[in-house]
Amino acid sequence: MQLRCFDPACATRLPLHAPALECPQCGGLLEVETDPVPYEAAALKQLWSERRRSRDPRDISGVWRYREFLPEYPAREIVTLGEGNTPLVRGHKTAAFAGVSDLQFKHLGWNPTGSFKDLGMTAGITEAVHIGAKIVACASTGNTAAALAAYAARAGLIGRIYLPAGQISLNKLAQSLDFGAEIVQIEGSFDDALNMLLEKTSEGIYFLNSINPFRIEGQKTTMFELMDQLDWKAPDYLLVPGGNLGNSSAFGKAFDELLRFGLIDRAPRMIVVQAAGANPFARMWREQASELTPVAEPETIATAIRIGKPASWQQAIAARDESGGLIDAVSDEEILQAYDMLARLEGVFCEPASAASVAGVIKLNARGYFEPGARIVCTLTGNGLKDPDTAMKNVTQPVTIDATEGAVRKLLGD
Ligand code: F0G
Repeated sequence: MQLRCFDPACATRLPLHAPALECPQCGGLLEVETDPVPYEAAALKQLWSERRRSRDPRDISGVWRYREFLPEYPAREIVTLGEGNTPLVRGHKTAAFAGVSDLQFKHLGWNPTGSFKDLGMTAGITEAVHIGAKIVACASTGNTAAALAAYAARAGLIGRIYLPAGQISLNKLAQSLDFGAEIVQIEGSFDDALNMLLEKTSEGIYFLNSINPFRIEGQKTTMFELMDQLDWKAPDYLLVPGGNLGNSSAFGKAFDELLRFGLIDRAPRMIVVQAAGANPFARMWREQASELTPVAEPETIATAIRIGKPASWQQAIAARDESGGLIDAVSDEEILQAYDMLARLEGVFCEPASAASVAGVIKLNARGYFEPGARIVCTLTGNGLKDPDTAMKNVTQPVTIDATEGAVRKLLGD
């Protein structure tokens, strides 16, 4: 395997483990070029199925189980917390509300640190260990931070995190602090934090935002696992919340490889859903623009996707184009409606950012977008426990009573 510039007009190649973040020729983003796999599709599916009975930590991981499509490392270097293996949950009531007939949720919030970021971080930190990095860093709206902090702790590396001050949920901050990461709070947005970190890359720090091609490799396995769960029959539509657009890019790469190596015979249409107040990608699509214009002051209740200048938009637009899907945005009210519905009707607790994908189904079906009988999968990217503030603002508060015997008796109507 090698690193390759994502821009096909450039396609410069570098050795796989070159610690570069961008193409030295054109400044474009890099991706891992997957080698042809020396197995037939049926034999690979059989192998992956057998690994589910194994006790090898690589086989237990829902990322490394699919390692034929990942860079190769000695088993002892792999830093895993048993990530992946998240269930596919059917959403009958949400489907009925939205007016569709076949809706399922891939809840990535049931990963070790509570978000899909663990899937990329197991790969990114393993690469950091392999190249001998000592300090790993990222800018984050909170989830990447928590995942980096956990996997860095496990690997014995120093984790350094740049956060927009006062703009991330307390629980995400608590996770990163508890895992022992060094935290720098920036007066500004996520985009400012990312810019600040990019200026520091020359100081011997290994950079682990989603433009890191190894993180994309880990995240791409989500779609291998999903297809495995669906007996390798792709759904008609896949909805993904969009922030920095790493996940959309990773899923696009997954479907390209799954098709190329004969593991599936068609891919779903990919629908990227942004928050209306942080919607530069949806706007670019609506206006049919060829370049992304950043949103200067992104604002949404879904703090995880409060991003105005997504780094991976070129890969994400390619993924949309190849799949024939679309890009849309939903309001905070629509996000909260979906968030409530998931919890109250389905018993599924996710972050507001995750509920954007479900809000997208409701909105698009009201416009008649889905054909009758369409099979739809929404990715839920983070656990509701990450952001209790939203839940607490949204519910009737519990009744507080005096616990003396008389008061309890009175309450029970005795
Ligand atoms: N959902 C959640 C819960 C997230 O935390 C993020 C991104 C996204 C969706 C969007 O994913 O960036 O790949 O398009 N969170 C990042 C972070 C930015 O720092 O935790 P994306």
